[in-house]
Amino acid sequence: MTQPPVAAPRYTKQTVTRQTVWVTEKLFSLTVTRPPGFKFVPGQFARLGLALDPTAPDIPNEWRAYSMVSAPSENELEFYSVVVPDGKFSPPLAQLRVGDALWINNSVFGFLTLEAFAGGEDLWLLATGTGLSAYLSMLRDPATFKRFKHIVLVHGVRHAVELAYRDELLSLMQQHAGQLTYLPITTQEPLTQQLSPSLRPTNLAPGRLTTLLRSGELEARAGLSLDPSQARLMLCGNPAMVTDMRSLLSDRGFAAGRRGVPGNLAVENYW
Ligand SMILES: Cc1cc2nc3c(=O)[nH]c(=O)nc-3n(C[C@H](O)[C@H](O)[C@H](O)COP(=O)(O)OP(=O)(O)OC[C@H]3O[C@@H](n4cnc5c(N)ncnc54)[C@H](O)[C@@H]3O)c2cc1C
Ligand SMILES: NC(=O)c1ccc[n+]([C@@H]2O[C@H](COP(=O)([O-])OP(=O)(O)OC[C@H]3O[C@@H](n4cnc5c(N)ncnc54)[C@H](OP(=O)(O)O)[C@@H]3O)[C@@H](O)[C@H]2O)c1
Repeated sequence: MTQPPVAAPRYTKQTVTRQTVWVTEKLFSLTVTRPPGFKFVPGQFARLGLALDPTAPDIPNEWRAYSMVSAPSENELEFYSVVVPDGKFSPPLAQLRVGDALWINNSVFGFLTLEAFAGGEDLWLLATGTGLSAYLSMLRDPATFKRFKHIVLVHGVRHAVELAYRDELLSLMQQHAGQLTYLPITTQEPLTQQLSPSLRPTNLAPGRLTTLLRSGELEARAGLSLDPSQARLMLCGNPAMVTDMRSLLSDRGFAAGRRGVPGNLAVENYW
C-alpha cells in the first residue's frame, strides 16, 4: 500500500550569525541565515520558533511574531527584541549565541507596509520601544527615499540608553540630509546633546508621543506640519500608545484604509 505524502514542514531551521546587546538583559538584536526563497517587504513580520522542550530539542514548540529589521536585499535576516523578564520566549531568545538554531515560519505576515498608502509627500514613522524594528527595514530600503520627499522617524523610549540603532539612524540622517529627520524621544529622563547631537537644545525635554502631538511640539521638533492630505503616518509598538495616538490623529483627519481604499494611517500593535 502506498503511504500518504508527508507534508513539508511550514518552517525551516536557521542559524544565528550575530548577536548584539544594546542594553544588558533588556534589548538585543539577532542576525540569522535567510531561508532560500524567503521574500518579504519592509514592515512585514516573521514568526520565529524556539525548541523549548528539552525532550524534543529539534522541534520548535513556541512561536512569536518579530518584524524584520533587515532590508529585503540583505543576505541575512535581522531581528530586534526586548527581554520581557517573565516572558516565555524573549528570555531564551536572548540566550542564543552564534551557531545556535532558530526556526522561521515559511510565511511572512503584516500590512504595516508602504503599500498601505497611495500618494503623499511626507512619511511619518512613529514607534515606541522595539516598534522601531519595522521602520529600520523601510529605512534600509532605498525605494523608501525615492518615494517620499520628507521622512520623519520618531522613536519613543523610556531611557536614552534604549535608543538602539541610534548611530545607524544618525548616519542615515546625514546621508539623506534635508529628507530624513530622526527624532529620538525619552519619557523618563531628558535627552542629552551628547547622545543626540542632531537635536536642538529645545528638543531634549522628556515627553510621551501623545503629549508632544497634543501640544504641537512633535511638529515643531520635526520642522514639518502634520497635514493629512500630504502625510502618511505609521504607528507601531505599545498598544496603549497606538490606541491613544489613533484617537488624537483621528481628530486631525487621519484614518486607516478600508476595503481596498488606501488611508493615511497604518498601525501595528506588538501585544
Ligand atoms: C506583529 C508583531 C510584531 C512583533 N515584532 C516584535 C519585534 O520586532 N521585536 C520585539 O521585541 N517584539 C516583537 N513583537 C512581540 C513578540 O512577539 C513577543 O511578544 C515578545 O518578544 C515577548 O515574548 P515573551 O514570550 O517573552 O512574552 P509574551 O508573553 O509574548 O508577552 C508578555 C508581555 O510582555 C510585554 N511585551 C511583549 N512584547 C513586547 C515588546 N516588544 N516590547 C515591550 N513589551 C512587550 C507585554 O506586556 C506582553 O503582554 C511583535 C508582536 C507582534 C504581534
Ligand atoms: N525598558 C525598560 O526599562 C525595561 C526593563 C526591564 C524590562 N522591560 C520589559 O519590557 C517591557 C517594556 O518595554 P519598553 O519600555 O521597551 O516598552 P513600553 O512599556 O511600551 O514603553 C516604551 C515607551 O512607550 C511609552 N508609552 C507607553 N504607553 C504610552 C501611551 N499610552 N502613549 C504614549 N506613549 C506611551 C512609554 O512611556 P512611559 O515611560 O511614560 O510609560 C515609553 O517611553 C515590559 O513589559 C517589561 O517587562 C523593560
